[in-house]
Amino acid sequence: MAKPLAGAPEQVSVTREQPAALSEAENPLTAGLERLPVPATTLVIFGATGDLARRKLLPALYNLAHDGALPQRFHLVGVARREKAHEDYRAECEQAIRQFSRRPPDATVLQGLLEQVKYVPGVFDDEGVYAALGEVLDEFQERAGEPLNRVFYLSTAPSFFPVIVEQLGHSELAHLKDADVRVVIEKPFGTTLAEAEELNRRVLAIFDESQVFRIDHYLGKETVQNMMAFRFANGMFEPLWNRNYIDSVQITAAEDIGIGSRAAYYDAAGALRDLIQNHMLQLLCHVAMEPPGSFTAEEVRNEKVKILHAIPQPTAAEIANMAVRAQYTAGHAGGEDVPGYVSEPGVPEDSTTETYAALRLEVDNWRWAGVPFYIRTGKRLARKITEIAVTLKPVPHLAFSHAGSLGVQPNQLVLTLQPNEGVSLRLGAKIPGTRMIIRPVNMQFLYGTSFLSQSPEAYERLITDAMRGDATLFTRNDEVEAQWRICDPIVQYWARAPGPLPHYQAGSQGPAEAGELLRQGDGWRAI
Ligand code: BG6
Repeated sequence: MAKPLAGAPEQVSVTREQPAALSEAENPLTAGLERLPVPATTLVIFGATGDLARRKLLPALYNLAHDGALPQRFHLVGVARREKAHEDYRAECEQAIRQFSRRPPDATVLQGLLEQVKYVPGVFDDEGVYAALGEVLDEFQERAGEPLNRVFYLSTAPSFFPVIVEQLGHSELAHLKDADVRVVIEKPFGTTLAEAEELNRRVLAIFDESQVFRIDHYLGKETVQNMMAFRFANGMFEPLWNRNYIDSVQITAAEDIGIGSRAAYYDAAGALRDLIQNHMLQLLCHVAMEPPGSFTAEEVRNEKVKILHAIPQPTAAEIANMAVRAQYTAGHAGGEDVPGYVSEPGVPEDSTTETYAALRLEVDNWRWAGVPFYIRTGKRLARKITEIAVTLKPVPHLAFSHAGSLGVQPNQLVLTLQPNEGVSLRLGAKIPGTRMIIRPVNMQFLYGTSFLSQSPEAYERLITDAMRGDATLFTRNDEVEAQWRICDPIVQYWARAPGPLPHYQAGSQGPAEAGELLRQGDGWRAI
């Protein structure tokens, strides 16, 4: 039952859900679920009527309000191009939350969240917008009687990122005495290394790096964070976590969806920029990084940057052997017949944009030298699965071979990020009976079963962290540039389009050519 809390009119009402069976409070495994305190904040969303705001940001804010995780004094301001009244924007917010929230909204919480929402219309390079925004911020502040922290969330087309940042600087909104001002920048952070460097330069001319929060929503996923807990809170894995015991690492982010209505963005981006440059390199960093001295933003990010620097920048001569791209043709995916990529609405029929990319990378350091890291992602593959599979070396001597133990396979640890979040370990076990026949079995931990609570959405965590000023789960300037350093030569090489573009059927396992990246004896896991 929803239970509103009393409070000042500006305060967001708070409710807590009571699951029908065992409540979270009764489940000892949910002890870490309580929320951290967040200082009073005004959140300004630029691009407030866009897809990301509607699908992710507003529902995340609703769920934070629902969990009592927003600050006592919280204000929301939407900025977007079209003229509209505050009430109309509130109605749009409500509609988006009703459509996309992970739980059905409670009327009281919704009202508490939306009743004070303000809307500022205008184009992002118009100084007048920032003057109007300044007035709204001052009004909130006067009511509070103290300076309020500000978070500017840039959820616009990337070409506006530098424009908005510079306008915030010129209109003196980027700093505030006795309060913290932060800017959250969505992806993509540049489309080449040079662009990322230029964007960093322009952003850091206005804001200090400690004010800048570059989003990679994978870092907000519970299961990605759990990788650090898994590695560094368990004594049994870390001694094996190196080239002496690990044979290969395979990271997959397969999707069965196509590109939806995002042709304009996707056709210019492609799979490598869309998922590998950011999310998948972050996953690789989490697998490969050294244990940080402490879990502070700087130390964690220092370790990740070291890994990115240990990955050699691919040369043109190497790319043909370590990178494969492909595009989907018509097929059956996600339960329906679907067109090929070039027949998707908005995609030019001669497009050579890759919808699939696979890489073989190496991390040239003491721990990982010689261990291949295979990475692949694609749209319209057989199903949605995001996982990291760590394959151990085979045992040195197979004493059971005489007994017909055909199924013996090396141990494999699979961290599944989505769906069915969890960890499984493939072990060899004897089949019951008189003969010594071994076959692989799985030991499994499933998030949903052990922790009764539903995981929060990545954006809930990330918005909270940005308001709290904790940058651990955000990408630092040198980190984003290090990611581009690896991907840029491949992007450039593919743009020069050497050779034919491989294809794969929608709904399949991907292109046959991806197999050519693998060492002899290795195989891609079934999607
Ligand atoms: C986004 C990409 O960053 O990540 C999308 O732009 C992709 O193309 C999405 O579909 C995948 O995110 P998730 O959380 O569904 O794995």
